[in-house]
Amino acid sequence: MTRKAGRLPRAGPGLRALAAAGVVAVATAGCSSHAPQDFLRPAGPVARDEGNLWNLTFWIAVAIFVIVEGLIVFAMLRYRSRPGRRARQFHGNPKLEAVLVVVPALLLAGIAVPTIRTIFTVAAKPTGSNVVNVTVTAHQFWWQFDYPDYGFSTANELHIPTGAPVYFTLKGVDVIHSFWIPRLAGKQDVVPGHVNHLALSAPHPGLYRGQCTEYCGLSHANMRLRVYAEPPAAFQAWAEHESQDASIPRSGAAARGADLFVNGAKDGTFPGGPACVNCHAINGLRNAGTRPGLIGPDLTHFASRDTFAGATYSNTESNLRRWLEDPPAMKPGSDMPDLGLTRQQIDDLVAFLEGLK
Ligand code: CUA
Repeated sequence: MTRKAGRLPRAGPGLRALAAAGVVAVATAGCSSHAPQDFLRPAGPVARDEGNLWNLTFWIAVAIFVIVEGLIVFAMLRYRSRPGRRARQFHGNPKLEAVLVVVPALLLAGIAVPTIRTIFTVAAKPTGSNVVNVTVTAHQFWWQFDYPDYGFSTANELHIPTGAPVYFTLKGVDVIHSFWIPRLAGKQDVVPGHVNHLALSAPHPGLYRGQCTEYCGLSHANMRLRVYAEPPAAFQAWAEHESQDASIPRSGAAARGADLFVNGAKDGTFPGGPACVNCHAINGLRNAGTRPGLIGPDLTHFASRDTFAGATYSNTESNLRRWLEDPPAMKPGSDMPDLGLTRQQIDDLVAFLEGLK
């Protein structure tokens, strides 16, 4: 088959429509008006420093793209083969090649200056008497948050005081995860056997959403977190409440739930007899809390949290009931198995857990 020189095959209308749809899809995917994890709207100094670096490199990249693509298109049109004329060929141009090596090298060296400065700024360990330390332990698939200065442990929902630097110590116990609160700071990997750190602060009160951002298994997408930035006095009140033991019910369904939590079911419907305390700590509950957070979240003040199961579900009675019926159905790959609980046992456990304010 022969084709006339200089003629390109034409795309059919179907192909053109498909290409247009692709461009529109890519363009509109970035246009959500409600994007709580939008790193382009930094809400703290660390995210802002990183955002400034992003903006600088982005616009330099845009300029390079326009220049390079412009030259390519220009050369393609200007020197293409036409009927009766062959495409022009060029063989080497030492001066041009020297420019093409030196200019990008200078550009990279120039970008390195603000990059390295930002790296040192955001990696600096914060100092001062108001620093809040939080140890983050990433589990498949939830976040353990320990506040060593206060001596309590919580899960998936962080509280921080506005205006104060927060210094995270990040530890992994199973696979690699990555800790990311897009509006407050860039990602930091959480690696088993290696301790990482991250510093951030939030000047304004608000709820900031976060997400595990390193693929870690079946429920990677369900490994979310929330950061509640609140005025220092409100944070202090929260931390003092979290430091207190749970109030343990003495009668009714909640008391039966507490007994089930510690001892498991006597009738053997808890397979093998494991009780909730084998994995979950509740401070103030007899026999519980000896190994806080070893496997599952500390539940001391469970009912005061807005969400559970990797901050994926609202903490409502109906969601908790569904969860206790079959955890892996709500969070695939969950370490908490379907315990085969009866309706009565679930009612008692829900009454107990939803009383842990
Ligand atoms: Cu943890 Cu993805």
